[in-house]
Parts: sequence; structure tokens; C-alpha cells
Amino acid sequence: MGTKTPTGPAEPGPLPSARTVHGGGPLRGAIRLPGDKSVAHRTALLGAIAEGESRIEGFPSSGDPLSTLRCLRGLGVTLRLSEADAVLTVRGAGLHGLTEPEDVLDCGNSGTTMRLLCGLLAGQPFRSVLSGDASLRSRPMARVLEPLRAMGAEASARSNGGAPLMIRGGALAGTTHRLPVASAQVKSALLLAGLYATGETIVSEPARSRDHTERMLRAMGADIAAEGTEVRIRGPVRALRPLTMRVPGDFSAATFWLVAGACVPGSELTITDVGMNPTRTGALDVLRAMGANIEVLAEREAGGEPVADLRVRGSSLRATEVGGALVPRLIDEIPVLALAATQAEGRTVFRDAGELRVKETDRIATTVGELRKLGADIEATADGMIVRGRPGGLGGGGSDSHGDHRLAMTLGVAALISGRPTTIDDADAASISYPSFWEQIDALAPIGAT
Ligand code: S3P
Repeated sequence: MGTKTPTGPAEPGPLPSARTVHGGGPLRGAIRLPGDKSVAHRTALLGAIAEGESRIEGFPSSGDPLSTLRCLRGLGVTLRLSEADAVLTVRGAGLHGLTEPEDVLDCGNSGTTMRLLCGLLAGQPFRSVLSGDASLRSRPMARVLEPLRAMGAEASARSNGGAPLMIRGGALAGTTHRLPVASAQVKSALLLAGLYATGETIVSEPARSRDHTERMLRAMGADIAAEGTEVRIRGPVRALRPLTMRVPGDFSAATFWLVAGACVPGSELTITDVGMNPTRTGALDVLRAMGANIEVLAEREAGGEPVADLRVRGSSLRATEVGGALVPRLIDEIPVLALAATQAEGRTVFRDAGELRVKETDRIATTVGELRKLGADIEATADGMIVRGRPGGLGGGGSDSHGDHRLAMTLGVAALISGRPTTIDDADAASISYPSFWEQIDALAPIGAT
């Protein structure tokens, strides 16, 4: 996983997997999603510093959440994931019970693991070194290290600003941070450091990013308040209550099926137990604005998060514009929304999404490059893309995930839409967030590994 990136050197290891998807015909059936990756990371990290045992149902055995568990074990936390029934139990070490890791903490491909851990480790009186795969080592970390230094932690990176990172906790002081770019990872890291800081830590963002950390910390008893785009936490927090909750299905994962179901004529897919946190569901708003027929059914609440079932039917789509405060609500979904735009009448513009350039790959470059190979009329801009839609105009052929899970799945959906055999190199990258993705595609359309 994550073995190829356009920015980092290739890593040694087995040859990347390739899959050929033979799309064609309407998609019908029910889909169960993996547990939400963002929520899963946070349940493990926060459970680790709670007083007592946390029990998390629906914990996904995806690459990124497993990276978080590996790092927590490295910090002396006792936890057990039963993959058969997807239950994670974490014996909370308390806020001051983590121990100095004997080795480098390997965050794999997971930016959320690395950035959130930086915040947590800024509050620990020992030294930790964090690293990850070639993609993660090439991603910017100054955005989290600089504000942590301002709070009093010792934190350093390689000269290019990337991992391996060294963090040594210090006596932290509550600080006001104004983030230049909305980022839930940076915000969450600063809130975790804020648990240990004396006084108030304030984080304000230009637009609202996902708020899972705030919801969980509040449920665990922290003194935390959010208003608009600003969050405040008062520290030092004495103790956190353990968590008992179910991780909802991952809305980001649902979007692949929403796009597939909307773009393949005659389809009807029902996606069950989808996390509907409004800071995550921007793609639903965009697809509906494009004319997609999506019903939200059985709205309910579970584990402090809104949940629903979604039903999507094939429809004709029209172009739209995506930018501004909407972007953090759908940042991870832009590659597959760009694919949807190839099937929409008119010119769709994505802007204000320069963050895509520093994700698992440069997702503007990789999305444009790969969708063009399949015949899309799409061009890159500095902070987004322009897509001229041609419904039914995609072809098959060869494509490459570049080791990026979301690109791998976008290309799988492209094959379902085009109905022409499409080979996706390094398709296993999908298991970073969605291990059963290819199996589920297989159940809807014939697929073969080459
Ligand atoms: C995430 C936040 C987002 C998102 C990532 C998961 C999180 O990153 O792209 O996949 O769980 O906090 P940024 O905070 O860098 O925007």
C-alpha cells in the first residue's frame, strides 16, 4: 500500500496489485460500509488516554486505523481488536500513563495518525520519533509542528519539513491559533495538546472542518466549546471518561457508491448506516445540486453522530461549481466528484482546493492524469480542476492508483460507469480505508485480478 507516489521515491516490496474491472449494466443491491476512518482514529487515540476501558463497535480493519493502533501499542497502550466482530477494546492509560516508545512510531500512509499523535505527544514528558511510508514522509508537517512549538513543545522535522519527526513534550501553555487553511487534523492535534496546556487553547479556522474530535472530547467530559469556526478547550484536563460507541459507516466511502449509482443508468443502490455528520456531507449537497436522485432514509443518532441510510438511483447530471466553505466538507471526495462531473452536461469547476496537492498524492495531478487516460475532458488549475462533461463519454484501458486509496476507488467506479474493461494498477491501495471495496464491486460487476 502506498508504494508509489509521484513525489516520493519507490519503496522496495512486492509488485503492486492490478485489477481489471469489467463494468456494464445497472448496479443494484445493498452496500455496507467500513467504519468511518476519521472517527475510528479518534476513538482509539482518545480511548488510550481515558480512565478505564473503552469499547468501540464497528472499528474498521483498514490500513490507516490499524496504523493508529500500532502506534498506540508502541506507546504502551493495551488494546485488542477483534477483527471478526469489529470490536476494539482499549485499556485507557489515563492522560499521563503513556510510556516512551522504544522504536520509531510507524504511521504508515496515515496523515491523521501522524498529525493527531503530534498533538498528543506534545503533552508527554518523553521523546518520540514518528515516520511513515514514502507518501507520508513527503507531506507537510510544519503546519502542526509550528503551533505546537508555540505552545511549548520541542518538535522538529527533516529540513524539507516532513517526517521523520521528533516530538518531546514540554510544559504547554494555552495559545490562540488562527489556521491559514481549514484542517481537522491540525485543529485536532492542537485540541489534544490543549488537554495538557495550562489555560485556554483556541483554534479558529477560515471554514469549518470535521468536528469528530470536539464531539468525542465533550462526551468524555472535557471543558470544550465550539462556536462557528472557533473551538476552545480549557486545560489542563484532569481525566477523560472512557468511550462506549459504534463507529458509523464512512460517508467518504459512501460517496463512491453515490457516484456509481447516480451515473450508471437504471441503478438502484441502498447504502446502510452512513455517518451523516454535516461537516462531512458536502458531496451529498453537490451531487443533489447536480441532479442526482438520492434519498436520505431512517435518520437517527448513534455514538454522538447522525446516521442514516442512503438510496441512490441512476439520473442525468448537470454541471456545478464547488468552492469556498464547502471544500472542507468534501475535500476527500473531490476525485470521485470530478469523475461524476465527467458525466454531467456542462462545465464543472472545482476551486479553493489547493490542499488536494498535499494529500496522499497530489490529487489534482493524479486525478486529472488518470481520468484523462480514460478519455475525460479535464484540466488542472492551481487550486482545483475544470471538467467538461460528456455523459457516456468515458472509455476503458489502463490506469494507475499511484498508491492512493481514493484514486484507486475512483478508477474502479470509472470502470463501472464506462462499462469498458479498465485495469487499475496498485488497486490494493483501497485497503487503506476500504478493505472490502473490490469484493463489493465484484458482487455488483464482474472483476478479475490480473
Ligand atoms: C481528516 C482530515 C482531512 C482529511 C483526511 C482526514 C481527519 O485532512 O483530508 O482524510 O480525520 O481529521 P486535513 O485536516 O489535512 O484537511
